[in-house]
Amino acid sequence: MEERKGFGSNFGFLMAAVGSAVGLGNIWGFPNKMGASGGFTFLLIYLVLAVCCGFIVMVGELALGRKTGQGAVGAYKVLSKKFSWMGWLGILSAFFILFFYCALGGYCIKYTVLNVGDLFNAGFGSNGLSGAEIFGNFMSNPAEAIIYGLIFVALTMIIVMGGIGGGIEKVCSIGMPCLFVALLICIIRACTLPGAVNGLKYMLIPGWAVANGVIDKAPNLFQVFATAGGQMFFSLSLGMGAMITYGSYLDRKENIQKNGLLIVVMDSMVAFMAALCVLPARFALDPEGSLGGPSLLFVTMQNVFSRMGTVGPIFGIIFYLLVVFAAISSSISLLEVIVAHFVDKARAEGKGDKRKSYTLIATAMVSLGCILVCADALGTSGISPADLLGIENPKTWAADWLDFWDCISEGIMMPLGALLMTFMVAYEIGTEFVKDEIEQCGNKFTMYKFYRFCIRYVTPLGLLLVLYGQIKSFFF
Ligand code: PFF
Repeated sequence: MEERKGFGSNFGFLMAAVGSAVGLGNIWGFPNKMGASGGFTFLLIYLVLAVCCGFIVMVGELALGRKTGQGAVGAYKVLSKKFSWMGWLGILSAFFILFFYCALGGYCIKYTVLNVGDLFNAGFGSNGLSGAEIFGNFMSNPAEAIIYGLIFVALTMIIVMGGIGGGIEKVCSIGMPCLFVALLICIIRACTLPGAVNGLKYMLIPGWAVANGVIDKAPNLFQVFATAGGQMFFSLSLGMGAMITYGSYLDRKENIQKNGLLIVVMDSMVAFMAALCVLPARFALDPEGSLGGPSLLFVTMQNVFSRMGTVGPIFGIIFYLLVVFAAISSSISLLEVIVAHFVDKARAEGKGDKRKSYTLIATAMVSLGCILVCADALGTSGISPADLLGIENPKTWAADWLDFWDCISEGIMMPLGALLMTFMVAYEIGTEFVKDEIEQCGNKFTMYKFYRFCIRYVTPLGLLLVLYGQIKSFFF
């Protein structure tokens, strides 16, 4: 049988895993949620959850993947009787996330091109229009959004076709350090703008946002907890098999505990850094601008670059390229969850390396979902889920196709996937299983006692509350 090729180095693995984690969730989800949820309170809860739930699930997923040497479907099948179907939940989640993620990735490519147009005073620049007008025009032209969405899908496909070592690892090993530098450049520019300090106050001083009328009232503690938990899950790419899949390509001698910690720390750091770039810029140059959702990235931030003067387009290009790359390094891990399973299966059946064909088939399916989301233009054109189901005054989940796929995957499937995974490890296969896998090459699992306690009691409880909070905020 043909050999299953994995990551060439631990650095390559780490960059790919951090690339999966760092994505759109960090760059616009985190800054806005942190500001609206009381700054430091949110940050503190986020970090506690990242250690007690995120790290625990991360280490579990990496260990299960490496132990079985298979993608999500194969891994769960080998490991459990009761939870053998869970890999399919992961594959379904990957499809649903890709539908809206690729559409948004396409929007980011469009904005990169727009800023190139501004730099050269070309006709495809902003032509003196405001951020809201540019976005409005873009939304009223679904064909353009579809083309950009499909370009993003195609880029994702090309990288995944290259395989783990040749595609994903190579792109992330170069791209992630570049992303870090680009983010640093944007932070320095944003924080040195006059008025930027208000962005820092919004982020860091508890109660500042309410006292200054930026938001009406502070959310209660449970709401902050649920928001931070949901954000943390999505941001760390947990609960749907992405880390099982990447773990399955990790060399036996590498240290899972150390890698798991590094992924959590680096992802949280980039999220905080993104907040340090986006919020000060918004408060300095577009103080009335939106603080969340797609308008934060595509209206507010574009206004920021338009108002920066001649250097604006340069920072615009750096910023949107950074976001495009963050999104691609995540979308490739999502597509890999799907592709890995079918490639493994074909190899086991002696059909040889079918990576290219399966990537093509999965990409075709993702393209259809992406077209649906782009055509719907955030609920402004076409038929929304609410129209289809005859719902009047729809809640978030039914308002448009982007929210629909997001609420189902991020709102329910990911926290549910993670919750069931902790049950499986704690009460079916046993925590010793994870410990043995981590320690099999002489790396000591120094946090084992903490791990065992968390995965039995703290993590499931935390996940249950997060799941409840997500369902409440998305669906009721
Ligand atoms: N972690 C990504 C983000 O923060 O945008 C989203 C994501 C990527 C979720 C990969 C799940 C996944 F498997």
